Amino acid sequence: MQKIIAGNWKMHKIRPEAAKEAATLAQDLSSGMPEGRLVIIFPPYTDIATVSDAFAGVNNMAVGGQNFYPAESGPYTGEISPAMLRDAGAIWALVGHSERRHLLGECDDFIAKKVAFGLGQGFKIMLCIGETLEERDKGQLKSVLGNQLTTAISAIDAHSRDRLADRLAIAYEPVWAIGTGKVAGKQEIAEAHSEIREILKKLVSTAAADIPILYGGSVKADNASEILAIDNVDGLLVGGASLDAKTFLEIIHA
Ligand code: PGA
Repeated sequence: MQKIIAGNWKMHKIRPEAAKEAATLAQDLSSGMPEGRLVIIFPPYTDIATVSDAFAGVNNMAVGGQNFYPAESGPYTGEISPAMLRDAGAIWALVGHSERRHLLGECDDFIAKKVAFGLGQGFKIMLCIGETLEERDKGQLKSVLGNQLTTAISAIDAHSRDRLADRLAIAYEPVWAIGTGKVAGKQEIAEAHSEIREILKKLVSTAAADIPILYGGSVKADNASEILAIDNVDGLLVGGASLDAKTFLEIIHA
């Protein structure tokens, strides 16, 4: 399976900054994309068109939205639709990022609506799941991952579940490792990813082996290759270390 290296810019960069970073990435990767890698940037909405323009014509580089509202259009002040994201150049969308779950109160049922709606609109969905430190300490890792994943794909019909392989990716992001500098240990990552693979087998049988599972949470240039080498790690979702193109390129080349 190809390895996906995704950068989540969160709420960073105005357009000139986005243009500069995206141009640096495109210039390096247009001739030097490592074999079997797919690079995705999730910029803020206002930067999507800028980044998409910079990536035009470069193989294996894509752009995604950090969120969307599960409706075609309507009275949803402050929200954005999948069609608007697509119009700006996005083909991927993040759903269920821990900052949206915890800062903005998104629940599993709403996340399930988004997953099904986004797929129905032709988007590739990167679904984020992960436990808090409290849940981990209470021994609830498996049940939290199981509940989040099962609910998130509950609104997808059986026929579509068999075809999720190139349309769904899972990002395992332990909440306690996001933006904290505390990267999960090798054993912890291996255990969580293998559990996610087992849950997927129950939920989407035939597609399960081909759904990429990314790790996210304090990935840096100096730990990227070690994490990528762990069983069932099919890529990385990088926050802080994706903001500087040179640092992110080191991770892409790791
Ligand atoms: P981080 O963020 O790499 O800054 O920990 C990861 C994420 O939130 O996707």
